[in-house]
Amino acid sequence: MTLLPTELDEALEAARAVAAEAGALLLEGLLRPKTVTFKGDVNLVTEYDRRAEDLITSRLGRLFPGFGILAEEGGVAGKADAHARWIIDPLDGTTNFSHGHPVFAVSIGLEDGGTPVAGVVAMPGLGVTVWARRGGGAFRNGEPVRVSNAAEIGVALVATGFPYDRRTARDDNTREYAAFVKRAQGVRRCGAAAVDLALTACGVYDGYWEPRLKPWDLAAGVVLVREAGGIATDYEGTEIDIHKGWILAAGPRLHQPMLEILRDARRFF
Ligand code: IPD
Ligand code: CA
Ligand code: CA
Repeated sequence: MTLLPTELDEALEAARAVAAEAGALLLEGLLRPKTVTFKGDVNLVTEYDRRAEDLITSRLGRLFPGFGILAEEGGVAGKADAHARWIIDPLDGTTNFSHGHPVFAVSIGLEDGGTPVAGVVAMPGLGVTVWARRGGGAFRNGEPVRVSNAAEIGVALVATGFPYDRRTARDDNTREYAAFVKRAQGVRRCGAAAVDLALTACGVYDGYWEPRLKPWDLAAGVVLVREAGGIATDYEGTEIDIHKGWILAAGPRLHQPMLEILRDARRFF
């Protein structure tokens, strides 16, 4: 059954508390030596990813026994076939974190019937948390936020990231990056998709694109962008499917111009 607004508020409040706790654990570990192992060529994991995820899944599992869980490190847990499901990235920006770089996040999203409906992105290294739930607006540290109203790419600060298979994949985002570098006021590549989405929701970034992300990178952030008045689609302009992973998120006036730049940059693929 679809969650009511009061149930969403309750879930979001719990997710915020748990994200704050996990964020504190991560912040404490930021400048300490840590064990790093490789999941792939350039894809790392530290003991902090696992510790933060254990904390989040055990707390939320206990508080919401009727919900499912999909978490980056541990996969599927919680109630099977539940209508509502937590989608968790315990540490988004692991490469930054492993180098002591303060741009990283805890991202906790909630989907209901397959649609993202609530989310929190806590960025303890920046002292900023952004949250939202369907129909309730988006908030940064308690203050309402809106996406940017920019309409021209020449005055826009945009963000992107590069997929973990970039060393071998032909479709590696470098053409798109080159196209935006030439046209935008600035392009940032900060290494944490959930942070990029949260900053897009806040209007810090005017837009953001990235290929081949995972549901846990996106689940919370797309709710933040939408509730802040933004548009989140794939590269075709179709409503984002967080399980497919291609995203273009922007304010309502910049989304179409960015879509056209992406299409143009990708015309030979
Ligand atoms: C990664 C970050 C990065 C993005 C990668 C993600 P992780 O998540 O969000 O910005 O470019 O595609 O996988 O591995 O640090 O949780
Ligand atoms: Ca991630
Ligand atoms: Ca992660």
